[in-house]
Amino acid sequence: MAAADISSDGPESHTLRDLNEPLVDHTEGQLFLTDAFKIMMEEVLCKGTDVKHKVCEWKEPEELALLLDLELRAKGEPHDKLLQRVQDVAKYSIKTSHPRFMNQQFGGVDYHALTGRFLTEALNTNLYTYEVAPVFVLMEAEVLRGLRQLIGWTEGDGLFCPGGSASNMYAMNIARYQHFPDVKSQGLFGLPRLNIFTSEDSHYSVKKGAAFLGIGTDNVITVEVDEGGRMIPSDLDEKIKLAKSQGGVPFFVSCTAGTTVRGAFDLLDCIADVCEKHKIWMHVDAAWGGSVLFSKQHSHLIKGVHRANSVGWNPHKMLVAGLQCSALLLKDTENLLRRCHCANATYLFQQDKFYDVNLDVGDKTVQCSRKVDCLKLWLMWKAVGSNGFADRVDKSFHHARYLVAQMKKREGFQIVFEVAPAIKERMMKQGTMMVGYQPLGNKVNFFRMVVFSPLLSQKDMDFFLDEIERLGKDL
Ligand SMILES: Cc1ncc(COP(=O)(O)O)c(C=O)c1O
Repeated sequence: MAAADISSDGPESHTLRDLNEPLVDHTEGQLFLTDAFKIMMEEVLCKGTDVKHKVCEWKEPEELALLLDLELRAKGEPHDKLLQRVQDVAKYSIKTSHPRFMNQQFGGVDYHALTGRFLTEALNTNLYTYEVAPVFVLMEAEVLRGLRQLIGWTEGDGLFCPGGSASNMYAMNIARYQHFPDVKSQGLFGLPRLNIFTSEDSHYSVKKGAAFLGIGTDNVITVEVDEGGRMIPSDLDEKIKLAKSQGGVPFFVSCTAGTTVRGAFDLLDCIADVCEKHKIWMHVDAAWGGSVLFSKQHSHLIKGVHRANSVGWNPHKMLVAGLQCSALLLKDTENLLRRCHCANATYLFQQDKFYDVNLDVGDKTVQCSRKVDCLKLWLMWKAVGSNGFADRVDKSFHHARYLVAQMKKREGFQIVFEVAPAIKERMMKQGTMMVGYQPLGNKVNFFRMVVFSPLLSQKDMDFFLDEIERLGKDL
């Protein structure tokens, strides 16, 4: 219907078949899916993970739009033409599963997680009530329990959120509700000026969340970091005292376990002392670094996380679960999530159902429809076990250390970083790898290598260094 509505091809092309026949042909559809699946396998998963093939097939936007023939029309297209479209989408998309895609904190591929993602799409259900998602209501609870256990909590609450930014926002909203329950019905009227504290190096979503929730970005107070990018607890303490003396009400500290740019871990135990002293909600944004909890060797980095009130953790980052997989975990046992967000819709959350209505988790969220994000993590966890995750985390740290050591051996290597934008352009146009760059404070640009995919080898680290030198040779 949508295609007919937006078409200019005229109404004659819109003919209804026999009303007893479905408008979707299963045989045709399943054949298409099987053929399309072969293309996905070949282009995305075989070529797309092979270093002999490109990470990206760069095209200027006008050329790409023409190549893809994006316009939507009234008349549908035949099987072969549609398969060509699948092929084109695969060809011109970035191969984020490629070992040399080191551009962002997602990417790589785990085949069990991917199976979970395909199965999630095929089942197409909604994680709000037990009646439409019996398997996933139980599975989500178990996965969240497993993650909480790693934090060191034997009880608590949580949910999968649409991303780490959303988890941070949720945490702020719940913390504010705990301090001021009337905010749910009365809104911002009557609230004092609230203050949030986070480090200079924290993720930008903290400010976005403050803006979204009506707290205001001016009321997010930035705490200084040390030379390693970690929040300075004494500065936090000072700034909380100052805010109080100026009439503000500090209610939320967002620490970071694994900062976005430098990967720094705030000193959680020291920050917990400050939060306890001032009776402030402590949130740990562990979107990036939470996964170190699997590793005996590296979990010390996040020591003290059990003292937090809430933790955001993205398995779609270091664990390669696939976008998106983002857990918000709470220590709370008093149903704060549900109390803060419920609207008690009677068409979904009837209280006189024939099963335990506590299984209808949907009213804990600010969403109505909610995608299933637990299956990909659950299936991968079943496949590799906690020990497998530990190995992956340890291997990533090993690669990162190797890279730093190799870089130090190459004299004058940093000099090329002043020409990072030009190197990046060549990198994209030649399609050999993808790595992001950015300035650090007032220093020149540096390449921010994100090393976490289980597909990475030491050879890829060497390749990165060689390739940067090759691309920047004459600049
Ligand atoms: C520390 C940190 N927190 C939060 C986020 C946001 O997560 P998402 O992209 O899932 O919204 C990121 C993303 O890079 C991050 O590095």
